[in-house]
Amino acid sequence: MKQQLQKIEQEFKKAIDGVGDVLKLDEVYQRFFSRKSGEMTQIMKNLKELSGEARKELGSLANEVKTNLEEIYGSKKQDLEHAGWDRIAVEEQIDVTEPKLPPKRKGHLHPMTIVHNELEDLFTSMGFMVLDGPELESDYYAFEALNIPKTHPARESMDTFYVKGKPSWVMRPHTSPVQIRAMQKYGAPLRTVVSGRVFRNEATDASHEHTFYQMEGLVVDKDISISNLIGTMQELLQGVLKKDVEVRLRPGYFPFVEPGFELDMKCLVCSGTGCGACKHSGWVETVPCGLIHPRVIKAGGLDPKVWTGFAFGLGSMRLAMQKYGIEDIRHLHAGNMEFLEQF
Ligand code: PHE
Repeated sequence: MKQQLQKIEQEFKKAIDGVGDVLKLDEVYQRFFSRKSGEMTQIMKNLKELSGEARKELGSLANEVKTNLEEIYGSKKQDLEHAGWDRIAVEEQIDVTEPKLPPKRKGHLHPMTIVHNELEDLFTSMGFMVLDGPELESDYYAFEALNIPKTHPARESMDTFYVKGKPSWVMRPHTSPVQIRAMQKYGAPLRTVVSGRVFRNEATDASHEHTFYQMEGLVVDKDISISNLIGTMQELLQGVLKKDVEVRLRPGYFPFVEPGFELDMKCLVCSGTGCGACKHSGWVETVPCGLIHPRVIKAGGLDPKVWTGFAFGLGSMRLAMQKYGIEDIRHLHAGNMEFLEQF
């Protein structure tokens, strides 16, 4: 029994040494001291069967070992608990002298709002008025007055959203109707920009949305020429992009301008090598524009023999994509906070 006690003592110490947390420690304790099957408990029970000297001698030895082991257990338990508290104390400590963190931003402007604000600032600084127009338009302002013939493909429901039961109502497919409204209301001379939402029955992809933004520009005055148009477009792009931009002018057909152009700029997302944002062509159609067609001036209530002008229709979502390096137009309406919080 003496040997048995020694063995238990050794094994207990060894087991305790290898323990790293309080739960394991209790397992070890139970192995030796559980009331039913603990190895030490068993020895204490066996003592009762001895008698005389042997019982006395072994009894005191067993008690000594038992107390010793319990002490070892107690101090190990304390160590482990303290280590835990120290860790918690380090993790949770608060430095009350630390300066307050700035509050998390509660909200901010959408990138499209930023771009439109900048554009409007730029144009008001050049003497333009900022106007607004209805998103639900009449067929007359959206097409007819803009010299768009009844047979023009843009009028088809494949391209334009019509309102059920109201054949002459459309969700405006461009901001150009405001050209007519502005001339009718303010006459000439006139300089105005109109920014707003437009709608097209489009299959969406990285560079097409069914709902997007345009900024329409209109200048009506005497002797307006293409150089006035080009100069204004240069101001516009450099003002917003704050970079030197490479542009090219191509002939473009729009029934409400004559001559008409497509002003393209070299893609800033890929520097002209081709990507989703520029339909892999290296160039982005940015500003369709031209000199106002005499019929449009007439529809605006002005005399085309006296008044001339230019107009442009900037795809401002595409401009925002160029400004911020956004590779897919659909991000702008996706409502994804991770995307929006970058602005
Ligand atoms: N309204 C035309 C479009 O949406 C753009 C445009 C505006 C073209 C003004 C020329 C002049 O495609």
